[in-house]
Amino acid sequence: MTLLKRTNYCGEIDLSFIGKKICLAGWVHRIRHHGSLIFVDLRDRSGIIQLVFDPSTSQEAYEKADSLGIEWVILVEGVVRERPEGMKNPKIKTGDIEVEVLNIKIENTSKTLPFNLWNNDVDENIRLRYRYLDLRRDKMQEKFLLRHKFFLSIRNFLDKRGFIEIETPNLIVSTPEGARDFIIPSRLQRGKFYALPQSPQLFKQLLMVAGFDKYFQIARCFRDEDLRADRQPEFTQLDLEMSFVDQEDIFRVIEELFIHVLKEVFSLEIKIPFPRLTYEEAQENYGTDKPDLRYDMKIMDFTQTFSSLSLDFLQKIISEGGNIKGIILKGIQPSRKEWEIISEKSKSYGAPGIIWFSKTSGELRSSIKKYIEENFETKFNNSVPIKDGDSLLLLAGDKHEILKILGRIRLDLCEFFKIKPKEELYFLWITDFPLFEREKDTGRIVAEHHPFTSPKEEDLNLIDIDPLRVRAQCYDLVLNGVELGSGSIRIHKREIQEKIFKILNLSQEEIEKRFGFLLEAFEYGAPPHGGIALGLDRIISILTKSNSLRDVIAFPKTQSGTCLLTGAPSQVDPEQLKEVHISILSE
Ligand code: AMO
Repeated sequence: MTLLKRTNYCGEIDLSFIGKKICLAGWVHRIRHHGSLIFVDLRDRSGIIQLVFDPSTSQEAYEKADSLGIEWVILVEGVVRERPEGMKNPKIKTGDIEVEVLNIKIENTSKTLPFNLWNNDVDENIRLRYRYLDLRRDKMQEKFLLRHKFFLSIRNFLDKRGFIEIETPNLIVSTPEGARDFIIPSRLQRGKFYALPQSPQLFKQLLMVAGFDKYFQIARCFRDEDLRADRQPEFTQLDLEMSFVDQEDIFRVIEELFIHVLKEVFSLEIKIPFPRLTYEEAQENYGTDKPDLRYDMKIMDFTQTFSSLSLDFLQKIISEGGNIKGIILKGIQPSRKEWEIISEKSKSYGAPGIIWFSKTSGELRSSIKKYIEENFETKFNNSVPIKDGDSLLLLAGDKHEILKILGRIRLDLCEFFKIKPKEELYFLWITDFPLFEREKDTGRIVAEHHPFTSPKEEDLNLIDIDPLRVRAQCYDLVLNGVELGSGSIRIHKREIQEKIFKILNLSQEEIEKRFGFLLEAFEYGAPPHGGIALGLDRIISILTKSNSLRDVIAFPKTQSGTCLLTGAPSQVDPEQLKEVHISILSE
């Protein structure tokens, strides 16, 4: 029997094909015996179609169909016909028709599957172990189709705006982005190592020195850091850089990119310009530099209000310069049990405890009720904007500490009390980050973003006197409380770059060794430039309402950095190690 090659995808066959002979290929999705007929649902990436095997049409095809198993791969030739009334299935695209099979070729059999592809509760480790099966599921295929369209749409948009995509190398010297490098030993140069790029940062800056003016790259980045649901050791950035621009130019390109891509790929309309908050404002009001503004609840200061309350521990905190800050829960009256849960959660974030108030039918309930004097209640009612039915959660202590804790509790409260987000997508720019921060464990001054970020012109005079007060020309893009991207206007002058490296405690020798090439490039007519990088996996994961980045990366790693499918990382042959001059230390 000679069979035709595939002529169509299953999902494209409709009533207009009636009477036509077609050839389809795909996986056996379901088999049903019905009287003297066998019905097989055939699946390919476009959808599912019903095949009918009738012994009176082809005895040979019928017998082969009788031997089929789930997920076998077949090629069939047949004629499209309308399904009889009552047999139509409005739930699927091809529900009005079926294919009467004339010929079938079995391309491959399949073992019994290790899990049910159509069960949504399968353990993720099993899904990752058999990722090629997991990816057969229509839900997963949809995500990757969207990812593809998203990337294509980005490329088309940036191309039209005059950007050029240029690939930068993956075997490089270390680029500091704040994480650990993955390193690769060199065979040809004994004892030397390449690093995998944490980002194309330095190369994109060199491309600006080269005069490319508008660069982008959909770039793979590698970071050896502790993994979480929103972090993978290798991930994809939309990396972008422009010359002769300021922050506003970069914001405009990114906002217009989102307008275009969200409309084209997700049929979503968004408003621009995106709202903005300074780093200070974000910390003060939301206790984080990536606030989720889909929720209104702000952190408010109550230090003044409670300063007259004669509660020893509060007075002590206030007299030592501490603050009292809190969140109003509108229309929420947690039970004692619920307050206990919230208190435990706060303690797990480092809070010594919480203070709460609830107002019901004019009566004030509180965790510190017994310490409250009579006149306090009147004062409270006059100065605290909570209405009947509302509650107030307070923390007292060091301002920065309590802000950080409240920032986390704020999100927990939204989840716990199922507060409805007010918008689907809330984009937000965070600006005016500090240039440096003090590392908590070591006390060292480190770059808040990366060391190539330009200080704000007006803060340049503070660099030598009070570096921690210098603000950076640096910005983050936040979506629904997730950091989507970061960028900055860069330093393009050797003297300033050297000065920053010195504040970061690098010796002249180290500076030359690690960054000599960059400083040298700055001396050959480096233009002013700036850019941004967006975490594409994070964006797709939010837009496809996925639980983790692993759902939008075809072959992701687990939390412990392993690939359950291939077994990476794995031991290598001793010969291979010898070639790269490596020996493994015994523990
Ligand atoms: P940054 O380090 O902030 O900036 O990275 C930019 C964006 O990349 C995403 N991202 C990640 N996504 C998944 N897994 C990870 N491990 C991971 N790490 C980062 C985030 C983040 O906002 N060179 C600078 C950009 C610049 O200044 O132009 C940089 O890489 O969404």
